[in-house]
Amino acid sequence: MEKIVINGGKPLFGQVEISGSKNAALPIIYACVLVKGKCVLENIPDISDLRNSFKILEAAGAKIEKLDRNTYAIDCTDFEVGTSDRELELVSKIRGSYYLLGAEFGRFGKSRVAFPGGCNFGVRPIDQHIKGFEALGGRVDVDDGFINIESDNGALGTSIFLDVTSVGATLNIMIAAATAEGMTIIDNAAKEPHVVDCANFLNTCGARISGAGSDMIKIKGVPQLHGCTYAIIPDMIEAGSFMAAAVATHGSVQVNNIIPKHLESISAKLEEIGATVEEFDDAVLVTAGKHLRKTSVKTMPYPGFPTDMHPQMSALLCCAEGTSYINESIFENRFRYVEELRRMGAKIKVDGRIVVIEGGTPMKPASVIATDLRGGVAVMIAALATEGTTEITEIRLIERGYDNICEKLRQLGADIQKITCPDNAE
Ligand code: EPU
Repeated sequence: MEKIVINGGKPLFGQVEISGSKNAALPIIYACVLVKGKCVLENIPDISDLRNSFKILEAAGAKIEKLDRNTYAIDCTDFEVGTSDRELELVSKIRGSYYLLGAEFGRFGKSRVAFPGGCNFGVRPIDQHIKGFEALGGRVDVDDGFINIESDNGALGTSIFLDVTSVGATLNIMIAAATAEGMTIIDNAAKEPHVVDCANFLNTCGARISGAGSDMIKIKGVPQLHGCTYAIIPDMIEAGSFMAAAVATHGSVQVNNIIPKHLESISAKLEEIGATVEEFDDAVLVTAGKHLRKTSVKTMPYPGFPTDMHPQMSALLCCAEGTSYINESIFENRFRYVEELRRMGAKIKVDGRIVVIEGGTPMKPASVIATDLRGGVAVMIAALATEGTTEITEIRLIERGYDNICEKLRQLGADIQKITCPDNAE
């Protein structure tokens, strides 16, 4: 078992380099299944969700070569449809594995993929993905933990209005439609930067996608895609997490290799609570103010405040004077981390879909667990801001989505160690 031990209460200072975006890299590597040829992808983060996704693709015949730490060549020329059950356990652990459905359906006119996993936020339906595949001419059935798509003539272009603005459904339908016959229009589409990044990648491979980043995406299907070289966008949530950690510890951190525009909703909230955020071309310098003030946050689809920053913001608001509120409007149950912050003495509770935080109460070190990816980083932020030694277990959930997080924090002056201990030591 591995755990993270943080001796907190020290301000973070210095510069940190942000890695490529998990939620952009996942759809893009699965979209490579559409391409007969080699795609060289740069700025791939070194995280377990991607390492496991590479294993899933390799088991189905993809040739994947690591060119350097963050650059991979992926060639899916010999990819075989429906064989992901060879890596069944991995498929059912990762949420992003559902992009295999769109990619296989787009290339082969059929697909068979196990139900996806991912963080546990209560029910996470995929009805909008299925609605999209059916509109594109697929016959979809779900049996024995698998999603099967069949069709007579492959994916055929159509118009789809999403009932819910879903990042995953928008991407899956866009991927399936890239090589479909005819034009597909996705209305009420998600506008997240990773949707735009995947569209840009597909267009670099010869697709004809317009409107990504607005709520209407048009995809003119092309017969085939070719290989390309493409760099993944920076991870806005990793960046936001370091920004929150800098403010919670009363430090000052320059967050490099980012797109400041993607961080506007996060920067605005940090300024509201008393931090300064100075913007450069591809960096922000975040400096905590002397006093941190309460605020209210509502998570919204992009360009609103991201749900993936909710737990980290909660941890930060535990350090701000006054009563703050976070209204989680995207996921019905993204609150498991709250209990862990309470273990550290935070005055925080959940009322329906609202987190109520009575900030400014000093926290104390404790043994806590990472309840999920962002919840895990929330307790890390609380531990960094709290004097004394906090231990965090279940850190594999953090490593699903944060590249080298302990080393990056150490370089900012954190007293942090990752320890491997025998399983019965706890
Ligand atoms: N929804 C439906 N039906 C669907 C799909 C979604 O009702 O078919 C609902 C969900 O239950 C939720 C809302 O729509 O209430 C939004 O879900 P969305 O589909 O946008 O989320 P997702 O594709 O499952 C991705 C990210 C999440 C991120 C969300 C929202 C990946 C692999 N996952 O999930 O990332 O929270 O978009 O931005 O890209 C994370 O990185 O920590 C993470 C959880």
